[in-house]
Amino acid sequence: MLVLGIETSCDETAAAVLDGGRKILGSVVASQDAVHGPYGGVVPELASRRHLEVVLPVITQALAQAGVGLADLHGIAVTQGPGLVGSLLVGCSVAKAIAYCHRLPLVGVNHLEGHIYAAFLEEPAPTLPFLALVVSGGHTALYLAGGGGRYERIGQTRDDAAGEAFDKVAKLLGLGYPGGPVIERAARAGDAKAIRFPTAQMSDGAPDFSFSGLKTAVSLHVKRHAPLGPRQVADVAASFQATVVKMLVRRTVRAAQRARARRLVLTGGVAANGALREALQAECRERGWALHVPSPALCTDNAAMIAAAGHDRLVAGERAPLTLNAIPDLTLA
Ligand code: KG4
Ligand code: ZN
Repeated sequence: MLVLGIETSCDETAAAVLDGGRKILGSVVASQDAVHGPYGGVVPELASRRHLEVVLPVITQALAQAGVGLADLHGIAVTQGPGLVGSLLVGCSVAKAIAYCHRLPLVGVNHLEGHIYAAFLEEPAPTLPFLALVVSGGHTALYLAGGGGRYERIGQTRDDAAGEAFDKVAKLLGLGYPGGPVIERAARAGDAKAIRFPTAQMSDGAPDFSFSGLKTAVSLHVKRHAPLGPRQVADVAASFQATVVKMLVRRTVRAAQRARARRLVLTGGVAANGALREALQAECRERGWALHVPSPALCTDNAAMIAAAGHDRLVAGERAPLTLNAIPDLTLA
């Protein structure tokens, strides 16, 4: 079964063709980093305009990579939410047009389920049930995945998403956008123990996250020591990154213990971070738990993960009507 996946929820225009929901025949991601870079964050209006310009060429390229035409497809999967409404609408409109013209079944996919499905695209694929930490620019949450599209959210951020903290701190340090990769690069030259930033604790003991206090602490530190030289910037980047990693890993391990989960999935844009991958891997290895982390290119936004999740929904008989609409605040559980 050949499924075309379309993803336009934020600032990546992506299309992919999958066979059987797991084999990637073609996958194209057009990044808008150059568009938003000068602003230090995503400008929604510019994002939707760029999606509109590149979505058809991106789909054409993904089909060409796969060596198939629209007439060969068996279904279309599109990100329905959560995300920026203007961005989501571009993907949804194109998906509906193709589905209508070629009489193809259509499904809407939750972007967060897509991130979790990225783990199924590489061997060894995780078996259900498992605990998934989804860390991206817009979301930071822990889900128990039970199979059959059932998810239970057992923890989430109470303020900023982890990726958002990376992006804001990178802006504070004048390192550019997106923040994750530039902070990770700068951190390599720094000392992670140079500065002691606070790790938020939930007074009620919930496995929730909070990054706004850390962001404020970094901001105060930067102001107090301005102007920072390259050495100090590297130390702030390394210390900040180590603090985020510590918070994410500690909370995830505790949640896994409580849920008696022995299989974990780490996914979402921030899961591309080497320090986070290594730290969680070390904790899991020590406890004999299996950790599944998609390759960095599958952790950040892509359409292969959307096609994979959509494939299973199509196989289960799910169909979206041509009235399918974007849902910016769609939740997973
Ligand atoms: O999943 P994603 O591509 O888009 C959303 O669904 O939000 O995640 C983007 C986020 C951005 O905040 C970006 O700074 C962060 O992921 N990110 C990273 C790294 N690569 C991307 N954060 C830390 N380290 C990285 N290497
Ligand atoms: Zn994402």
